[in-house]
Amino acid sequence: MARSILITGGSRGIGRACALHLARTEAAHLVLLGRDAQALAATAEAVRQAGGTADTHGADVTDRTRLAGIAKVLGPLDGLVAAAGISGMTPVDGDSDAFFDEILATDLTGPWNTVRAFLPRLGSGGRIVLVSSVLGRFGVPGYGAYCAAKHGLIGLAKALALELIGQGIVVNAVAPGWVDTDMAQTGIRQIAAATGRTEPQVRAQAEGDVPVKRFFQPEEIAHGIAWLLDPANTMQVGQCLNLDGGVVQA
Ligand SMILES: NC(=O)c1ccc[n+]([C@@H]2O[C@H](COP(=O)([O-])OP(=O)(O)OC[C@H]3O[C@@H](n4cnc5c(N)ncnc54)[C@H](OP(=O)(O)O)[C@@H]3O)[C@@H](O)[C@H]2O)c1
Repeated sequence: MARSILITGGSRGIGRACALHLARTEAAHLVLLGRDAQALAATAEAVRQAGGTADTHGADVTDRTRLAGIAKVLGPLDGLVAAAGISGMTPVDGDSDAFFDEILATDLTGPWNTVRAFLPRLGSGGRIVLVSSVLGRFGVPGYGAYCAAKHGLIGLAKALALELIGQGIVVNAVAPGWVDTDMAQTGIRQIAAATGRTEPQVRAQAEGDVPVKRFFQPEEIAHGIAWLLDPANTMQVGQCLNLDGGVVQA
């Protein structure tokens, strides 16, 4: 029987790529969450064309009531990917309070809300993957909120892994480097504006800092996430898998 995997951030980028990968490789049933109904519907259609099936649910991961409402109407799940996230600069000497709160609410409390809401639908053998970042591994000036949230997410994965392994549920995180999505393009634009460089200059330097000298495609990250979701993965528990082309070696 096809596995049923819930993905937040299924409308775009890495979440969408995960959905398509699972549809293509195992004809999975995807439960896709996001705020943009049109983009979710487009992912669901692409999932069907790739051999899977999909349901979509408009939801903001900061809205616990909405998540709990969706959980009530779902059947059993085999896996959960918390990919929804936002990014941006929050300089400590700038007017950053509201955005700091929004990033923490979406990128750290959001995955917590998601796991809490859908845990009752995951039985023994369930797999949870939290999407952190290389900015969960080291600090970057101007990105205090995002770094705090993504470091926190790795801590959350470690704690939940030990809390849930007794129920047969395996929890891990991934830490992607630069991935070619809307988020990365916005990041390049913001860094260029903040540093007085052009976007191609910022991108060239960012790619030069990666040992493999390029950004990754969302499909490549999906491949790593799919490995953690695989029932065959029983060894990787409470770990953070670096998917960054050699940037972080710990
Ligand atoms: N791109 C990179 O270089 C990179 C590197 C490391 C880690 N990551 C992480 O990877 C994850 C996916 O990022 P991406 O690059 O795919 O970004 P993206 O293309 O901007 O997509 C972000 C996704 O998150 C969803 N989302 C954002 N806020 C949400 C909210 N409050 N409630 C529900 N859904 C929400 C968006 O859906 P709607 O707009 O439909 O709500 C969208 O599907 C994020 O957690 C990000 O931090 C990205």
